[in-house]
Amino acid sequence: MNVRDSEVICGLLQKAGYRISVTDQDADVIIFNTCSVRKHAEDRVWSLMGSYKGSKIIGLVGCMAQNYKEQAFTRDANISFVVGPQDIDKIPKMLGKILETRGQSPNNGDSPRLLERKIWETEGKLRPEEIYHTDFYQDTNHAYVVISEGCSNFCSYCVVPYVRGPLRHRKHQDILIEIREAIARGITKVTLLGQNVNAYQDNQVNFTKLLGQVNALEGIKEFDFFTSHPKDAGVDSFKAIRDLDKLAKRLHLPLQSGADRILKSMNRGYAVKDYLALIDSYRKIVKGGRLTTDIIVGFPTETDQDFKETCALVKKARFNAAYIFKYSSRPGTEAAKMADELKPGDKEKRHKKILDLQRGISKEIRSRQTDAKN
Ligand code: 5AD
Ligand code: SF4
Repeated sequence: MNVRDSEVICGLLQKAGYRISVTDQDADVIIFNTCSVRKHAEDRVWSLMGSYKGSKIIGLVGCMAQNYKEQAFTRDANISFVVGPQDIDKIPKMLGKILETRGQSPNNGDSPRLLERKIWETEGKLRPEEIYHTDFYQDTNHAYVVISEGCSNFCSYCVVPYVRGPLRHRKHQDILIEIREAIARGITKVTLLGQNVNAYQDNQVNFTKLLGQVNALEGIKEFDFFTSHPKDAGVDSFKAIRDLDKLAKRLHLPLQSGADRILKSMNRGYAVKDYLALIDSYRKIVKGGRLTTDIIVGFPTETDQDFKETCALVKKARFNAAYIFKYSSRPGTEAAKMADELKPGDKEKRHKKILDLQRGISKEIRSRQTDAKN
């Protein structure tokens, strides 16, 4: 999602007459498009930002901007503008204002501090449609296409609903226009993006209908989507993966934990048995399809027994790959109020253990596939 947002920002700036520099030394303006999902990501931004002392105009954009708001200016005195993810369309104008006042200022360098962050005032509105139709793609043959913005799931550990606002769906016609424009620029592969793509709904067009429409576009060779949420993913989308010739035979289905008590406390809306039934149905329908997942270790109150249950599920599910994260407390979320967070050392141990377990499984699956091919 952030890669796409960065493209959008670059596209908007290019359209306004700015040039994207090749190196940071060449740049007059440095914009940090940021993630707040884990503290580690934020720490890296603060530290990198600190290495640009005074000479550049610095902008903090994206989820951290929304998270820190005006406090960002105190945290790093070099920041000139702070723009939340809902307001990225305003960046060129804000930058123009800053450059203008900088030029006029007798002590060149005293620019105004500008802030845009009106996420909950969006009233469920989408970002302006024009932002998705600029000319900047990082890749020459692959494009990310946002189908829905925000998230209303409020998993108890997650900052996304607070920083990106409630779930909104783009119009299916607009999505298709954007993909056609990408095709006209030579793009043949597309990834549809949303925090919970299976919940997509635009009037009569639900997620599987949209998949069918994308599949029918001439010029598309392959496409995929993420992320799916186990509470909304189901047989319809698995059948689409099986039947649509251009849709990649893979599914990313975040599990988060293999213990029912923890899943409940995470507010995930499913139990272990539901997850197992879901992947069983996926495997029956999409023969040989890839399956990947996300797992969090060290969620508050996670016991040895809970962790063992997650390991047992990993063994049973045999994911092709799993992204394992150490729980990171995010201020403002429900989980941040919970007691009994694990000690960092214990989180580390669990992280390593499950990583090793999954690495072994991934390797075994790969070697079996190679054997089968030979
Ligand atoms: N701590 C650790 N991992 C998190 N994720 C989301 N929030 C947190 C958090 N507070 C993980 C989830 C999600 C992935 C994108 O990031 O596993 O699926
Ligand atoms: Fe966060 Fe849950 Fe929404 Fe995913 S579904 S973005 S984990 S709140």
